[in-house]
Formats: sequence, C-alpha cells, structure tokens
Amino acid sequence: MALRKIVEIGDDILRKKCRPVAEVNDRTRVLIDDMIETLHHTGGVGLAAPQVGVMRRLFVVDLGEEDTEPMVLVNPEFLEQSGEQDGDEGCLSIPGKAGSVVRPEYVKIKGLNRDGEEVVYEGTGLLARAFCHEYDHLEGIMYVDKAYELWELGDEEQ
Ligand code: NI
Repeated sequence: MALRKIVEIGDDILRKKCRPVAEVNDRTRVLIDDMIETLHHTGGVGLAAPQVGVMRRLFVVDLGEEDTEPMVLVNPEFLEQSGEQDGDEGCLSIPGKAGSVVRPEYVKIKGLNRDGEEVVYEGTGLLARAFCHEYDHLEGIMYVDKAYELWELGDEEQ
C-alpha cells in the first residue's frame, strides 16, 4: 500500500464527472487500499477517487469507530434519501476551510465492495453526510458549492 497525493481545489480533475469502474480487479483493489491508507493517514472520514487523481466512480468512508471496517463503494447509487440535517463539513481537498451544508438525514446507498460484490449501506447523521459528500465528488461537485456559510479554520482546528 502507498499514500496517494491529494488533489486540491483549483485542479480541473475535481470538477469532472467520473466514469464507472468497468470491473473490480487487482488494480482497483490497489487503488482502494491506497485510498484507505491515505484516508487513515490524513484523519478524514471519506475520500473519493478523483481526490487522488483517478476519474472513476468509487469512494471510501471510515468514521473511525471501533470494530468497523472502512466502507468501500464502487459505482455507488442512492436507493433512498430522506429528511434533512444541517451541519458542518470539511474536505481533504480544501484545506483550512469548513462550511455548513444541508444534507439528507438518512440515505440508503448501494455499490460494489472491494471484492466486486454488491453491498447496501444505510446511514443517518454523519454517515449519511459522508456518503452524500463523497458521492458529490464523483459528479464534480464540492461541498463549497452547496454550503450556505464558509469560514477559515484556525491552526488548532485543522
Ligand atoms: Ni471532500
């Protein structure tokens, strides 16, 4: 496994719609493992492929809770979204900033896992927010596009 360099806002890669993953193969698994390692190294909760310069539809989410594996979603599709929550977000590709974004309170999402098998996840609160934030990256959308308020983080908050 290896750490991947995180693409930052201003790079066109983050503004393009990603293409589906044709097949989950060993190459995909190397990418997934690198993304998980990079996510853990940075301390974020989610990372999408375009953030490491790969224009494919996949992301990883890990809330860092004990006894849970990182969630991998290849070619994700929302099955349900409901409710509304208002909360703060940041993004590894936008260092030094945070913002307030309204998201669905509940989402149900399906995709393929690291083995190419279909998985379905349901999430509320932070997990639902993470799924929506990461899915948006695959569409070339960033949270700053949806935030109704943005601010700079102080050194101690980063
Ligand atoms: Ni992000």
